[in-house]
Amino acid sequence: MPFLPTPRLLSQLTNRAIIYSQNGDPSKVLTSLRYPELPPPASETVNIKFLLAPINPADINVVEGVYPSKPTEETSLTTSGKGSPEQPVFVGGNEGLARVTAIGNGVGDLKLDDWVVMTKPQSGTWCTSRNVHASDIIKVPWRHGLSQVHAATMTVNPPTAYNMLRDFTSLKEGDWIVQNGANSAVGQAVIQIAASKGLKTLNFVRNRDNIRNLVDDLQSLGATKVLTYDELSDKSLRTRLKEWTGERSISLGLNCVGGNETSLMARLLGNDAHLVSYGAMSKQPLSLPTSLFIFKNITSHGFWQTRWYQNRSPKEKYDVMKILVDLMVTGKLKEPRHEILYIAAHESDTEAGQKIKDAIRNMSEGQHGKKVLLRLESLE
Ligand SMILES: NC(=O)c1ccc[n+]([C@@H]2O[C@H](COP(=O)([O-])OP(=O)(O)OC[C@H]3O[C@@H](n4cnc5c(N)ncnc54)[C@H](OP(=O)(O)O)[C@@H]3O)[C@@H](O)[C@H]2O)c1
Repeated sequence: MPFLPTPRLLSQLTNRAIIYSQNGDPSKVLTSLRYPELPPPASETVNIKFLLAPINPADINVVEGVYPSKPTEETSLTTSGKGSPEQPVFVGGNEGLARVTAIGNGVGDLKLDDWVVMTKPQSGTWCTSRNVHASDIIKVPWRHGLSQVHAATMTVNPPTAYNMLRDFTSLKEGDWIVQNGANSAVGQAVIQIAASKGLKTLNFVRNRDNIRNLVDDLQSLGATKVLTYDELSDKSLRTRLKEWTGERSISLGLNCVGGNETSLMARLLGNDAHLVSYGAMSKQPLSLPTSLFIFKNITSHGFWQTRWYQNRSPKEKYDVMKILVDLMVTGKLKEPRHEILYIAAHESDTEAGQKIKDAIRNMSEGQHGKKVLLRLESLE
């Protein structure tokens, strides 16, 4: 017989988390769990309340157990009395915006109600409230006009786009880059950051019934050209490309898809160009024609924002975040297209769990087109 909490006990369980205790298909292993109010924070720690947390593709891979970055026992709910050291209860989510609700002794730079984001990977953001070490969060460099959606999505996709455009080759105004998965949140950020630097973008997306709407959307963000993968096999593409780019060859390619479409896209790169792979949405391996290395001297790289965070100083991280905030509040980097998945405090764990499973199933089917952001309401 399942444990059914009494109404009195339920009223004490003010918090909720979306959790899993073993890896597997998210539609099977994710559930909702309530837990009690947090005690006052110990020294060097703060209590935070999450306002919004995205469901990113990598979060699904973490739950499946196929992502190299894993949650640790430290970020599990075990310290809140759930699970055990042998079988910890992990909270999903890596990214999210939270508000500071209580501050322990010895925490210098934070005050109540400050907006913070996570710097520690896999902190478990799909929950209402957590106690975290002050060194595992960073205060958002807030400026008037910065929305919750901006702040909740600023630590993964925008810096990935920004760093890939900056770190592999030096690009100057008028230069061209090419990318696939151009309608992904990273792709949208690439388009906008590139446009803000005067760069031209050639963008590839999957074909769909309402492709014209998608092309219009991406062009309204600043995309120079938007094509479908089907057009990669069209012989006239090279001629059209020459007309668009003139004397300039494409010196940077960004890939989050893999598979044959990426092999074809790589052929559009010019001499000495760089191909940067940062995702594998098609789940197909990447294979590149040898001739590109011999005759065009192309370099193929990987990029992982998690590694970037591990290797960079707090100042470098803060500086990039500040640049991104400036782009956001000046309208040059818009909120990703999104929908908010709201789970009210009165909803049962079964209802909450089902909402999450449905959202993830929808995302996995592709062509969803919107970043899903989780807003979990706690009982005050
Ligand atoms: N390396 C890093 O540091 C880093 C950082 C951030 C993100 N990423 C990766 O970047 C990718 C995009 O992330 P995101 O958060 O921007 O994604 P997102 O907003 O959720 O969008 C997902 C994108 O993947 C495309 N897609 C889904 N299934 C596909 C398939 N079978 N073949 C081709 N395209 C497919 C979707 O196109 P449709 O609209 O056609 O479905 C959409 O463009 C993911 O692989 C993510 O893990 C990597």
